[in-house]
Amino acid sequence: MMSEAARALKDAGSITALTGAGISVESGIAPFRGKGGLWDEFDPEEYAHIRAFEKDPKKCWKLFKLQTEETRRAQPNPAHEALVDLEKHGLEGVITQNVDGLHQRGGSREVVELHGTLEQLECFECGHDHRTEDRLDEISEGEIPICECGGPLRPRVVLFGEQLPFAALRKAHELSQMCDAMVVVGTSAQVYPAAALPYTAKRSGSVIIEVNLQPTALTSNVTDHFLQGEAGKMMPTLSQEIG
Ligand code: APR
Repeated sequence: MMSEAARALKDAGSITALTGAGISVESGIAPFRGKGGLWDEFDPEEYAHIRAFEKDPKKCWKLFKLQTEETRRAQPNPAHEALVDLEKHGLEGVITQNVDGLHQRGGSREVVELHGTLEQLECFECGHDHRTEDRLDEISEGEIPICECGGPLRPRVVLFGEQLPFAALRKAHELSQMCDAMVVVGTSAQVYPAAALPYTAKRSGSVIIEVNLQPTALTSNVTDHFLQGEAGKMMPTLSQEIG
């Protein structure tokens, strides 16, 4: 499977990557579903929905604090690095559902953050932008960071019940339609519209290579080469195989 997947990437002119929480697990960031999933501990309806934030921002900040601290401790892992290497072989962009900023820190040049980022905050009242790193003291003390206007700040992540950023979605569609091969790494493919992108790529004639610990809904529907295993091991092997 690995050599066929490497051959497909070698033959591809343009490659796009789609990543999910699984690519950051080996960096110490918990996934949402499956083993050690955040949603087992934090009900997303209670902690990650826009209505939950309106009702009880302090409760939602329990989850945001944990995610922010995990992200700040994390380093890019060999899977992130392998995607940077793939730029030599035609990787045009990484579409990510992750909000940890690890692709950028790993050196990827074109990263489309479909679900926003924990590295930026915005005021829930006036919309004013703030950098998370400027408010780490309040966050680490379990407080809600407050805007100059008095409103509560929230991470600029897409909460359930919210629209995805339009520009990111448009760029993601463009990268999915134009690529000859899509490498899908570490996503359970359960959340739309991100999970629709491999279908978009497939319809445009792309070869789909999927890296995951276990099969997903994509595997039997659109995946041409399924590489079962940890991203931190499979991705560098794939990148070396391409040469
Ligand atoms: N290597 C490869 N795959 C892994 C690894 C690993 N080391 N560890 C876990 N996985 C796989 C799991 O098998 C699972 O399929 O990563 C996937 C993680 O799935 P989710 O936690 O559902 O993450 P994701 O698909 O990114 O979730 C999408 O859902 O809750 C929303 O906004 C949230 O962006 C998130 C979206």
